[in-house]
Amino acid sequence: MLSEKMTEALNGQINKEMYSAYLYMDMSAHCTYEGLGGFANWFMVQYQEEMSHAMKIYDYINEQGGKVVLHAIEKPPGNFGTPLEMFEATLKHEQFITKSIHELVDLAYEEKDYATQIFLQWFVTEQIEEEANDNELIAKLKLVGNDGNGIFMLDRELETRTFTPPAGEE
Ligand code: FEO
Repeated sequence: MLSEKMTEALNGQINKEMYSAYLYMDMSAHCTYEGLGGFANWFMVQYQEEMSHAMKIYDYINEQGGKVVLHAIEKPPGNFGTPLEMFEATLKHEQFITKSIHELVDLAYEEKDYATQIFLQWFVTEQIEEEANDNELIAKLKLVGNDGNGIFMLDRELETRTFTPPAGEE
């Protein structure tokens, strides 16, 4: 059983995950337009991951007998710049999401909501991976700099990324 406050906070997180999906979908379109098919693929996989995060919370609220309430999704900024700038923006966004997840964990502890504490552990771990992926790509993009060949090679590497649904969502 979820408290009203916890339900509202989880519904807020669904919206943040949906916005994340929307943001990465837009970044993917930007990369496609710029001729960077591998980067576009990476962001489209990221879009799928974010949709699965939103659905994980959606299912959890339903399972706990809470009411899912969907909010309007904000428009992404649309002007994304270079691949390095895109990944720096991605990292900044993920740090914001990590903070939001940690606030949910704080609330679950405050409320002695043991089920939600356990549920959120998956997201805490996932955020470590999300930030690590972004940091790795930022480091590679800094190494490559403005070298067209390097960007081309990285684009080919990112082409290979595939979406694996989280356990329980296959
Ligand atoms: Fe669902 Fe990228 O945080």
